[in-house]
Amino acid sequence: MNGASRLRFASRMDAVAPSAVREILKAAEQPDILSLAGGLPAPELFPAAEIARAYADVLAHEPGGALQYGVTEGFGPLREWIAQRMTSQGIDTDASRVLITHGSQQGIDLMARVFLDAGDCVAVENPTYLAAIQAFNGFQAKVCAVESDDDGMLPDALEEALRTRRPKFLYVIPEFQNPKGTSFSLERRRRLLSLAAAHGVPVLEDNPYGELRFRGTSLPPLAALGSDATVVYLGTFSKTLAPGLRIGWMVAPPEIYRKLVISKQAADLHTATLAQRAAANLLERFDYEGHLKTLRAFYGERCETMLEGLKAPAFKAARWATPEGGLFLWIRLPPGLDDLALFQRALARKVAVVPGRSFFCEPGHHGFVRLNFSNVAPAKIQEALRRLGEAMAEGIREA
Ligand SMILES: Cc1ncc(COP(=O)(O)O)c(C=O)c1O
Repeated sequence: MNGASRLRFASRMDAVAPSAVREILKAAEQPDILSLAGGLPAPELFPAAEIARAYADVLAHEPGGALQYGVTEGFGPLREWIAQRMTSQGIDTDASRVLITHGSQQGIDLMARVFLDAGDCVAVENPTYLAAIQAFNGFQAKVCAVESDDDGMLPDALEEALRTRRPKFLYVIPEFQNPKGTSFSLERRRRLLSLAAAHGVPVLEDNPYGELRFRGTSLPPLAALGSDATVVYLGTFSKTLAPGLRIGWMVAPPEIYRKLVISKQAADLHTATLAQRAAANLLERFDYEGHLKTLRAFYGERCETMLEGLKAPAFKAARWATPEGGLFLWIRLPPGLDDLALFQRALARKVAVVPGRSFFCEPGHHGFVRLNFSNVAPAKIQEALRRLGEAMAEGIREA
């Protein structure tokens, strides 16, 4: 376009170059590909008829409110419902501390807006959720990766990062992490909170998958552990109702809450009133608990199918932790196998996985792939793993 070369973009856009892996994954979007690469919930579980009824009801009975501007904090009855659910999970809050957001992704962005100046540090698990890294990069922050194992951040590494890097906040996904599917142990949760409190660093707890536990015993969220640490909690209906609703929430202490509200006002005034009212209407009449039970059983079965498929001899030298919930399984490849090379070999067999390197903050991690089991029918999971096994065996032979 004429004059495009003269456009003077903000320097922060330099840090948000398109991810190389995202570009590669576009190749995996053709219809004949069996994809374990996505991260989507199963669409057959969206309560579409109930959502349609809720929208119709709201438009018939409260069109003025549903189609009008609303307050930035969100629709009162929805905030009340969320506050009660949070309280039932041990998080001591009321509606005045609940801010409705456009998905939890907006919560990550708002937290970054409120806390990060260019050059500031934010500490994250290594690996972590790709779009959080992108959000922090967008504020020209330095993302400091804290070494983690299957029980969460390593306390010594965290302490060192807190002392030497002085992060503005910690970003963690303690339950069924994306990409690893693993959760923080109770001891690691407590250690993280006591270290965060000792260093006066707030914690952003992102919990989109916590309701999707299909085995094992529930652990309290960080925000429910009653520590001296400041915890800002992020929740969402994306994985329990439907991501297209774009409704998430933040629970924050008053001082941070006020700043989040001002930032959200500048970003988008408020979350879509119609969607908020429809969600509130739905939750009033809908068997949410029953729906969650269905989701858990459904995803648990798909995860089981994946674990069965991974028993094939081709995967003998690979390693993984058994997920207790969520949508993902994280594979450590046999020594010498490269994630991108495996991706290419799998793609040649019309199977897509995500090369693990995309979830790390720094280069040099080439030995992992992420598999998704939520959005693939069991028979397709079996076939995809059969082909992935072939790709892996070929990679091992030629390594
Ligand atoms: C860890 C994590 N946080 C946040 C999000 C964004 O979810 P939402 O649809 O609520 O914006 C995702 C989506 O996959 C995620 O995996």
